[in-house]
Amino acid sequence: MVPTITVEPTKTTSKVEFPDSLGFGKIFTDRMFSQRFCPAKGWYDAKIGPYQQISLDPATTVFHNGQMIFDGTKAYRRKDGDINLFRPELNVERFNLSAQRMGMPEVNPQSHLNAIRELVRLEEQWVPNMEGTALYIRPTMISVEKTLEVRASKEYLHFIILTPVAPYFADGFSPVSVLVSDNYVRAVPGGTGQAKTPGNYAGSIAATEVALKKGYQQVLWLDGVERKYIDEVGAMNIAFVLNGNEIVTPSLTGAILHGVTRKSLLDLAPQLGYPITERRIGIDEIIEGLSSGTVTEIFGMGTGAVIAPVGQLSYKNQAILVRDGKPGPIATRLYKELTSLQRGLTEDTNNWTQIIKI
Ligand code: COI
Repeated sequence: MVPTITVEPTKTTSKVEFPDSLGFGKIFTDRMFSQRFCPAKGWYDAKIGPYQQISLDPATTVFHNGQMIFDGTKAYRRKDGDINLFRPELNVERFNLSAQRMGMPEVNPQSHLNAIRELVRLEEQWVPNMEGTALYIRPTMISVEKTLEVRASKEYLHFIILTPVAPYFADGFSPVSVLVSDNYVRAVPGGTGQAKTPGNYAGSIAATEVALKKGYQQVLWLDGVERKYIDEVGAMNIAFVLNGNEIVTPSLTGAILHGVTRKSLLDLAPQLGYPITERRIGIDEIIEGLSSGTVTEIFGMGTGAVIAPVGQLSYKNQAILVRDGKPGPIATRLYKELTSLQRGLTEDTNNWTQIIKI
């Protein structure tokens, strides 16, 4: 049974004014969704109410065992003023995949989707319409039992917050620079790499700080076993264009996030005439391909990042410019096609968008 959501009175912003630069996750809307879980009741107390602080005992298990997951999807303003969700069912699927891996209860997909739809509908004035912007939806689940025992918590809080955003990289569709980490690893098959859990991000921060200090924006992670194969980049999956046409992206090994943008491009790219393959990709193959010219573009893809061309790569102290640091034609085309589809500017022949009528 899909529980009904109680909507509590909330003091709302009378007229939302967006700053010139939205950034990513800097301002939040007036309302949030929340529900609680305990073994006796399952999920209960589903409500949409004021965005507010969460007060937790210092001994709450999330602070000690880190049982926590999150996800990300977006709502886009259409030209006709209505709103598009983009494949939100895939985010729920991934949220539940993360929940399983972290020993947490799954959410009912339908009630999670209803919560997203209802929250976005109520907060519709927060969906921006500037090029490249969207309302980012952040579902989260934390364990809230008070115990220091290392085992699955018996109680959980699931909440959804909303933030109007620009693409994750501040300069929008301009190339990012990436440092290949040959020191730290992010994940190993069988670990938690494919779950969207904060530990994966926490473990990446020291390496990201090193990259930032060296003038790079992101870390490219190699596989944690042989340190030879490419996994993904800090905030996105990665793809390479070979010989100006064929796209390759690392296969899902259990250590890589199941990106919704990645999955969508696996379908969209061939529809636009670019064959795409998932396979193991050696870092040596890419470094050699960049010097021989067979690797003609590199780009990242993610809900936050959208499609982000890579303009520079550094591996073992060797910095290599990709396309002289400029975006390539295939990343540009994919960005335009995907964002037009998400904003309802082109026909959605794949049935990927769900409209919220305003
Ligand atoms: C997303 O793309 O939704 C993410 O969660 C990545 C985040 C690091 C911005």
